[in-house]
Amino acid sequence: MIEPTVNNPFIVGKYLSDKYFCDRREETDFLRKQVLNGRDIALISPRRIGKSGLIQHFFHQEDINEQFHVFYIDIYATTSLTEFVYSLGKGIYEQLKPQTTVWKERFFQIISSFRVGFKLDPMTGAPSFDLGLGDIQTPQASLDEIFDYIEIADKPCIIAIDEFQQIGEYPEKNVEALLRTKIQQCHRAQFIFAGSKRHLMSNMLTSPSKPFYQSAISMGLEPISTDIYADFATKLFEERDKHIEREAIATVWNMFNGYTWFVQMMMNELFALTMPHETCMPGRIEEARRNVILAQENTYKDLLSKLPPRQKTVLQAIAKERIAQNITSSKFIKKYNLSSASSVQSAVKLLLKNDLITHTDQGYRLYDFFLSDWLATVY
Ligand SMILES: Nc1ncnc2c1ncn2[C@@H]1O[C@H](COP(=O)(O)OP(=O)(O)OP(=O)(O)O)[C@@H](O)[C@H]1O
Ligand SMILES: [Mg+2]
Repeated sequence: MIEPTVNNPFIVGKYLSDKYFCDRREETDFLRKQVLNGRDIALISPRRIGKSGLIQHFFHQEDINEQFHVFYIDIYATTSLTEFVYSLGKGIYEQLKPQTTVWKERFFQIISSFRVGFKLDPMTGAPSFDLGLGDIQTPQASLDEIFDYIEIADKPCIIAIDEFQQIGEYPEKNVEALLRTKIQQCHRAQFIFAGSKRHLMSNMLTSPSKPFYQSAISMGLEPISTDIYADFATKLFEERDKHIEREAIATVWNMFNGYTWFVQMMMNELFALTMPHETCMPGRIEEARRNVILAQENTYKDLLSKLPPRQKTVLQAIAKERIAQNITSSKFIKKYNLSSASSVQSAVKLLLKNDLITHTDQGYRLYDFFLSDWLATVY
């Protein structure tokens, strides 16, 4: 495979190759072991730790790629069974597209309900796939067809469904049971269910009354250790004739409790600020943090403009506290001019639901450390 080259080796938001991916060796081996032994896996962790990255990394392993067809489906934006079926079918086709196999050629033959999306360019004769959501009339029938198709695959498949907790929000009542049955009857594929809303996911998998009860091996993900991350970051600097003090890396890691997304964003900026031959010192961190926050400012303004005033006020109060305890106490309510304990409670409930805040052992905090800083200091 050709190695992609990049100017800034601190990649955020996509997977390039193992060169730009830090460690996760044990986790990758764990996934390999489960898959090779025919077990489905539930990968559960807080947001921004690296679940999606780990799945991509696993799928890029040579042995896995040789033995399996791998499919990655993100269902974050889906809100119904129809959309799920659409994402699953479309995702499988898109990922098979570069291949020329008899199995791929049979896609539209078996999944006949997707046939309307198959078009031939009148000029070049090249096939294209342009399916609309509205083209899926009977989602259950389409789902059956997709699973029939998987059953005749020329290699076993691994299907990763990211943001799996989303299916719990679909209006249709029987989706969990329906999917569970399909997955259980499927001999040709194994599944990785990844998700972030901790109790939604674990409720689905550990509650005896739920269809997915004990159906998968549960796997959590912890932050990458400071030392391992520091070795990784140092190497990426050195390879491009730049240097960084180890203390600077440790400071960044600690600022964000090792949450990969935030750490990578900061290291990306620190790398950009460091000239060739120069050494990046801890003194640079503040500047980098400001730059990163300012780069996100429009997104944050947009987000706030969509938030009801009461939630906005509570969000800012929590941001100012960093970690907020006793949020319904009269002291907290008075300090931030909030109206009442019950209104704080209902705002917090919605902020939690929308993944804007999280509840830790120490109290409530914003999920996004940068948004938290911005709300507390700039806004
Ligand atoms: N081991 C790693 N080495 C380097 N970068 C990583 C690593 N793991 C994740 N990242 C980067 O950190 C960012 C966050 O990771 P990822 O998107 O995988 O987290 P997530 O747990 O799936 O988050 P979410 O719950 O928000 O979907 C990604 O942009 C990715 O590029
Ligand atoms: Mg993810």
